[in-house]
Amino acid sequence: MNLQVEVPGRKGGLTLANPVMTASGTFSFGLDRHVFDVQKLGAVVTKTVTLHSRAGSAQTRTAETPAGMLNAIGLQNPGVDNIVRDLAPRWARWRIPVIVSVLGATIEEYGEVAARLEGVDGVSGIEVNISSPNARRGGMEFGQEPDTAAAVTDAVVRQTTLPIIIKLTPNVTDIVSVARAVVEAGADALCVINTLQAMAIDAPTRRPVLGSVFGGLSGPAIKPVALRMVYQVAGAVDVPIVGCGGITTGEDAVEFLLAGATALQVGTASFVNPRAPLDVIEGIQRYMAEQGIEDVRELVGAARLAP
Ligand SMILES: Cc1cc2nc3c(=O)[nH]c(=O)nc-3n(C[C@H](O)[C@H](O)[C@H](O)COP(=O)(O)O)c2cc1C
Repeated sequence: MNLQVEVPGRKGGLTLANPVMTASGTFSFGLDRHVFDVQKLGAVVTKTVTLHSRAGSAQTRTAETPAGMLNAIGLQNPGVDNIVRDLAPRWARWRIPVIVSVLGATIEEYGEVAARLEGVDGVSGIEVNISSPNARRGGMEFGQEPDTAAAVTDAVVRQTTLPIIIKLTPNVTDIVSVARAVVEAGADALCVINTLQAMAIDAPTRRPVLGSVFGGLSGPAIKPVALRMVYQVAGAVDVPIVGCGGITTGEDAVEFLLAGATALQVGTASFVNPRAPLDVIEGIQRYMAEQGIEDVRELVGAARLAP
């Protein structure tokens, strides 16, 4: 049974032993003690890193919702130089690729963070976060408008030879126009989607629950929205799509493949079941065995109707 998928790049792409990655911000930097062997994943995508370290948002940073959660972590991270010095040498010993998620406060800063990762042993790709609803500067504001999203992509493309995945926000009127613009600007792949902007209010205290008032909704609650967006984007561009949003089981993952995703990310599910990414891989294998599918790539887009 073949589970291997490829994400192309300008100077050699990424080969994933299976299509399952961790979603940024839900698996830290992959170096904590985990309940399964990290090397069984297709790839690890790190927490988003910025040029300088960030302390993150005020408490409260997370809240449970029916079938999901809200988060407003605020991109707490030690800054790109510390990552390169302290963590990349450890990733360099792995056999699976590590994709570093990046964010800038300005368009130029996105390029600057990407430049610091160029040629670093242990870093195999870059995921560009133009979709975080939790960045006071940078993030979602860059991903909501096609021209700005393309300008960020261009700034990163100029600074790196690594494969570039642009992570899109669902908080737009038309995700397809943003997808087309970033592909035109040189994106090698797209991650669809980041969290939906949302909030919670505590009735007894009559106050917003999250310290930063608004946060991002994730988990099973957003899966149908993510699936719809993957389907739409896959019909509009010819680069691989990394599906993300509410994937909890192998069956969920298969649905994203059928919608047109080539690879997948598991996020919130890991907070409920720390073994979730591995369970998703095993669930895909089970589905393939049951359906007599030899190659996972046969599933990609198989539910798509003729336009
Ligand atoms: C606690 C938490 C932190 C997150 N941090 C990041 C982040 O740093 N960068 C990013 O691009 N996405 C971040 N996300 C979004 C996830 O990567 C993912 O896009 C989203 O949660 C939808 O997938 P899921 O429903 O499987 O969690 C975060 C999500 C959660 C729940």
